[in-house]
Amino acid sequence: MVNREDEFLEDALYIRQLAQKHNKFFEESIPLIASENIMSPMAMEMLLTDFGFRYAEGLPHKRYYQGNYYVDQLEDRVMDLGRELFKSKYVDPRPLSGTNSNMAVLYAFTKPGDLIATPSLSGGGHISSASFGAVGFRGLKTVNYPFDIDEMNIDVDGTIKLLKQNKPKVCWFGQSVFLFPTPLKELNDVFNEIGATVVYDGAHVLGLIAGKQFQDPLREGAEIITGSTHKTLPGPQHGIIIGETSEDKWKKVQRGVFPGTLSNHHINAMAALGITLAEHLQFGEDYAKQIIKNAQLLGEELNKYGFKVLGEKNGFTKSHTLAVDVSAQGGGKYVAETLEKAGIILNKNLLPYDDNKKSQNPSGIRIGTQEITRIGFKEDDVKHLAELINDIIMKNKNIEKMKSEVAEFKSKFTEIQYCFGKFRPYQYINIYK
Ligand SMILES: Cc1ncc(COP(=O)(O)O)c(C=O)c1O
Repeated sequence: MVNREDEFLEDALYIRQLAQKHNKFFEESIPLIASENIMSPMAMEMLLTDFGFRYAEGLPHKRYYQGNYYVDQLEDRVMDLGRELFKSKYVDPRPLSGTNSNMAVLYAFTKPGDLIATPSLSGGGHISSASFGAVGFRGLKTVNYPFDIDEMNIDVDGTIKLLKQNKPKVCWFGQSVFLFPTPLKELNDVFNEIGATVVYDGAHVLGLIAGKQFQDPLREGAEIITGSTHKTLPGPQHGIIIGETSEDKWKKVQRGVFPGTLSNHHINAMAALGITLAEHLQFGEDYAKQIIKNAQLLGEELNKYGFKVLGEKNGFTKSHTLAVDVSAQGGGKYVAETLEKAGIILNKNLLPYDDNKKSQNPSGIRIGTQEITRIGFKEDDVKHLAELINDIIMKNKNIEKMKSEVAEFKSKFTEIQYCFGKFRPYQYINIYK
């Protein structure tokens, strides 16, 4: 056998170097992707534990593998924390991601060929609820709720009509561009009339719900909430399902998770989730308030600079997210790429009036304030951020100069907030040497 240790070590070090460069890139940039966040130091520590190398199929105390003595205690505690935070009867902390949570719930409540009602993609719906996503994978047919562009929300009267006509088995709510609470209460009568299961995909707004600053879906008509745990809830890349439903339906959800759609449930991430839930019980309300305050202010400031921020009628947003029509500034692709060159990271996005075919160059950009809030942005910082975006896009100032200004500004945010312990964000953790 030829010894190629040097060559392979070089490959390994190259990969490690990419990770270090990536951390530095984010350290110097302003992160505004609405679906991302960073974890607390104690939660981050969990990802490096031996929990990450084990299996624990099934439910606590009824496993198929040995070695789960502490895992069972962990999972019990994570479920308790989840139930306390969401004031719910049931919590399943096993799904690996938001999409996986959605798949488990679809598996539980539908059969191939069933019809379900979902938000449209251009109305902010996530790909997992689209016909070519998890919903399609389950072989389901879909009807989309009509969207009211002025309200930046689903149209209530049109939705009532649609549900009465089509009687879907599941009414699925929640978006990836989620500016305003879903009018669940207004739809309650029709849910009861058609006997549909109501599922609310709270991936984006989970931390705002838990921080009591958005809406309370389980008290407004939803039986199940699915979610990722790494957006406004600043935990690990993982998933969760929360239920206020019958025991019978909940058992179906649990079987949808395992053995339906996963085997191993990434116990290290579940431990990190538990710590995030405990931290959110302590700090979540203040955090969620500041996230929304920052988003609303950023909307106002960008609007003053002449950007077309959607949802103006209702104060631009009641969440962490803004949707901005930048077709007059060169389109979503150009604007997102230009901002990236200056160290401001966000994504292009379809707007409600865009054809799905425009997804590679849509009219809009999406902005989220949850990560900048996590690292300490307050009102004056948000105003300065709007000024930077204006300088780059409206005034076309020199990109290299702007990149230095962005990095300089970012360097003053040196601590992760709303958590136990202290840690410098984007710091590379070196355990190799
Ligand atoms: C509404 C919604 N649901 C589900 C997901 C999928 O979550 P994950 O990336 O954790 O699979 C997303 C992702 O952004 C989302 O926006």
